Amino acid sequence: MGTEELIVSSPASIANLGPGFDSLALAIKPPQDVVRVRVSGGEGVVIRNDGEYASELPNEPSDNSAYLVANRALELAGVKARIEVTVIKGIKPASGLGSSGATSAAVAYAMNKLLNLDLDQWGLVELASYGELASAGVRHMDNVAASLFGGLVIVNSTVRQVTRLDFPGIYVLIVIEGSKPNTGYMRSILPKSYTLDDVVTNIASVAQLVASVFKGDLSLFSRVIENDRVAMPYRIKAYGHWGIVKDTLIRHGALGVILSGAGPSIVGFFKDEPNVVEIEGELRKLGLRPRVMLTRPSNEGVREVNYY
Ligand code: HSE
Repeated sequence: MGTEELIVSSPASIANLGPGFDSLALAIKPPQDVVRVRVSGGEGVVIRNDGEYASELPNEPSDNSAYLVANRALELAGVKARIEVTVIKGIKPASGLGSSGATSAAVAYAMNKLLNLDLDQWGLVELASYGELASAGVRHMDNVAASLFGGLVIVNSTVRQVTRLDFPGIYVLIVIEGSKPNTGYMRSILPKSYTLDDVVTNIASVAQLVASVFKGDLSLFSRVIENDRVAMPYRIKAYGHWGIVKDTLIRHGALGVILSGAGPSIVGFFKDEPNVVEIEGELRKLGLRPRVMLTRPSNEGVREVNYY
C-alpha cells in the first residue's frame, strides 16, 4: 500500500439546540479543528496532537476520539494498515462546543475516502459517533452530524436519518466560564422519565424551532429556542453563573440564551452584531472571568483543505 493522505477541516457545533436534546445541532465556525490522516502499509494507529489546545487532549489512546474512529474504520474495512492522524486542535476540549465531535467527523470523513469504505450519510454519522465514547461514554450523534454536514442538523437514530437545513446568518455569542463535569455525568443527572406536559412542550417547541429556521422567522425562533424541559433545567444547576450570563445577554438584545451541549459554554443568539467588549466588561464587573467569543453559524461541514 502506498501512502495516501487527506487534510480535513471540521467546524465546532452547538448540540441540544434549545429543546432538541440529542437531536438538533448547529455547526459554527470559528473555531474549527484541522486533521491530517495518512494511510500507509504496516500496522497500528498513531495519534499526534498539535495546535492551541493540544496539551488538553488525553494521552491514553482509548480516551482519544481520533483513535477510536480510526480503529473502527479499520474494523469496517477489514484491512491492516498504518494510520497516522495529526489533530490541529482549534476547538477547546470539554468546552461544550463539540470538540470531540469535530475531530471524530474529520477522521470519519477521511477514513471513509482513504479506505474506500463507501459509507452513506448515516454510515458516516455512525462511524464518527465512535469518537464520542471517549468523552461522553455513549455514541450521541448530534455534534458529529453538525460537524459533518454543517448548518442545522436534525438527527433521528430510530430511522437512521439526518436532515440538514441552512441556518440564517445571525450572530452567535459564546460565554465560557469555568469547566464542566464530564458529559457522561451531565447525562446521568437527567430524569429517567418526564411528564406528558413536558414531552408535549418539547415536541411542539422543536417543531416550531425547525419551522422558524426553515422560514427565517427570527421572532418564532426567539419564542421557542429556550423552551426546553428535557435537559437545560437540570443541567444549568451545575453552572452557578447561568442566571448572570443569561440576564446580561438578554439585556444586550439576545433572541435567546441556551446551554451548548452539556456546557460550560452558554450561547446567545443575536440578530444584530452584539458589543462583545461591553458584554465581557459587564460580566467581569459582575465577578466572572469569562472567555467571550463571537462567531457565526457555518452552513459548511467538513471539507478537504490544502493547508495544515
Ligand atoms: N447531546 C449531548 C448531550 C451533547 O447533551 O449529552 C454533548 O455535547
